[in-house]
Amino acid sequence: MKIIIMTLFPEMIEQSISHSIIGRAIKKQLLEITAINIRDFANNKHKKVDDYPFGGGVGMLIMAPPVKDCYNHILSSSLTANPPVIYMTPQGKVWNQAMAQEFSKEKEIILLCGHYEGIDQRVIDEIVTHEVSIGDYILTGGELAALVVIDSISRLVEGVLGKQESFQDESFSHGLLEYPQYTKPRVYNGVEVPEILLSGHHKNIAEYNRQKAIEVTRKKRPELLKSYL
Ligand code: ADE
Repeated sequence: MKIIIMTLFPEMIEQSISHSIIGRAIKKQLLEITAINIRDFANNKHKKVDDYPFGGGVGMLIMAPPVKDCYNHILSSSLTANPPVIYMTPQGKVWNQAMAQEFSKEKEIILLCGHYEGIDQRVIDEIVTHEVSIGDYILTGGELAALVVIDSISRLVEGVLGKQESFQDESFSHGLLEYPQYTKPRVYNGVEVPEILLSGHHKNIAEYNRQKAIEVTRKKRPELLKSYL
């Protein structure tokens, strides 16, 4: 899968994707993630990409032309005719696992990160196909939100998670929170690992864990249970 990020801060993306599971998947060429600097498409010698909003208001807006030129550049080496363009904005649909699953089926997606007070509406109207928020709070820019989206999509791309990790994912992609897990030592601070987990009886353990998952979900996120049960 190919993910291209349009941003004024490509280093923020590049630094974060080079580690752990995502970094390994890039090396294995299961993922291709490229951050493109919108500033490289500024049409003035000072590389200025922002200006004051017409009608007044605080802050600066990213201008339409460099965003459009950056987008055209991406399309020129695109794998697909009309890849989805996701604008990271607090006005967007709040990101969830089902959305991550949908987008993980795409061959290629483009993420657009705003900064300052946002982007000229005309280029948003022209190129954006989806608007996504990662929660009801305001970040200083779209990069952290883009990283959340990249991470949650990438781990669903075939081969990115190892067998063990995918198996775990299977067990929790049904809308329940994770059940509590324990490792050595068997007794910690006087607290013992639940007896059944030591029994070696896989069916009973699976059922115990499922009940625990329901219990945790009921206690911490009862609204999730409605779609599970
Ligand atoms: N940009 C600023 N805040 C954001 C948020 N909550 N989600 C996505 N992009 C954003």
